[in-house]
Amino acid sequence: MVLGVAGGIAAYKACHVVRGFTEQGHSVRVVPTESALNFVGAATFEALSGNPVSTGVFDRVEEVQHVRVGQEADLVVIAPATADLMARLVAGRADDLLTATCLVATCPVVVAPAMHTEMWNHPATRANVATLRDRGVTVLEPAHGRLTGPDTGAGRLPDPEQIVALSLLRLDGCELPQDLSGRRVLVTAGGTRENIDPVRYLGNRSSGRQGFALAEVAAQRGAEVTLIAGATDELPVPCGVELIRISSARELEGEVAARAADRDIIIMAAAVADYRPTTTAPAKLKKNSASALTGVELTENPDILAGLTASRREGRISADTVIVGFAAETGDDTGSVLDHALRKIRRKGCDLLMCNDVGSGKVFGRRRNRGWLITPDGSVTEVDDGTKFRVASAILDSAVRLIPDR
Ligand code: CTP
Repeated sequence: MVLGVAGGIAAYKACHVVRGFTEQGHSVRVVPTESALNFVGAATFEALSGNPVSTGVFDRVEEVQHVRVGQEADLVVIAPATADLMARLVAGRADDLLTATCLVATCPVVVAPAMHTEMWNHPATRANVATLRDRGVTVLEPAHGRLTGPDTGAGRLPDPEQIVALSLLRLDGCELPQDLSGRRVLVTAGGTRENIDPVRYLGNRSSGRQGFALAEVAAQRGAEVTLIAGATDELPVPCGVELIRISSARELEGEVAARAADRDIIIMAAAVADYRPTTTAPAKLKKNSASALTGVELTENPDILAGLTASRREGRISADTVIVGFAAETGDDTGSVLDHALRKIRRKGCDLLMCNDVGSGKVFGRRRNRGWLITPDGSVTEVDDGTKFRVASAILDSAVRLIPDR
């Protein structure tokens, strides 16, 4: 693949993007612009990629690089892309190796912009982004946060891990269409923690990766996304997503209820603890005291997903809201993974259920997932093994089809 690097301060993060791709076995040819080399030296990119680095169409002329690099690429990723670089792509310029490569390439192109908020919001840049998207280029939404200098806002380069995961979607044949533009999506992720005392809790092994990938992909497809997350692995905040942190199932229930009313899609990917200690001890339970841990009494937690579908039936949330659940199942002597999932979707009343086989550590904490998408009428679609971003795309494809026309 080709990694284009334009001349912005975020060019230093391109080193981690190279690493992310090469660690997954991809061969990377870095093509910086001349000004990118003001930020990172060619030697760094050559050492990280193991490939030569040149910037101009007159470098290594005998190799006809300005044509060959683009022709041979399976994927072109430009990270960071400056406002100037996007303007040059839109104009069809070919005055350096990167723009010439982009004119020649017929493979998917992913552009990760990074610039100041004012530049990102400027009508010229908005028009250029729209033109590139019309031409089939994937233009990633930038992250919000600290920019160069003291200011914060939209325009930060997404985390290298996010750029790699989102770019590889295109190699997997997934588009990031703007089909959720104007839609409001609520996603829950991670595990809940139910306090026993000030130092102990009941929890689970959820990493939050699938829910975070759903939020990320929904936002990149144009949705306004709120992500309510419990305990998760350390994961980058999805770009442009409102993130709310919770701890217990009852906190999650409250935050979901406060935001459920006007959503187009709600996805319950959180691993909600089924039970909580009936009381949380105000002081640490001592091993040898009468109230020791063996005696912790449990109370059932509310079923948030079932509560949402009940609210929809009773008109408290819109009848048009598409509600998606997850089922983490292992087969047992009462039925297979799919038997359990089918019973679950009917019991919970949701529109779509993503069912995983979680036997013997098959999903938790991993970057890949697979399973089945199930609807209440019993139709089952297999979701092939892929990254959790790939699985997120498949879930959103199905959920989008269920949104009633406005
Ligand atoms: N869920 C929920 N509230 C709970 C438990 C689960 O909203 N108290 C949601 C999860 O977010 C998931 C779906 O319900 O979308 C299924 O979760 P799962 O743990 O598989 O189901 P359970 O209801 O706990 O069923 P069981 O333990 O019997 O398999």
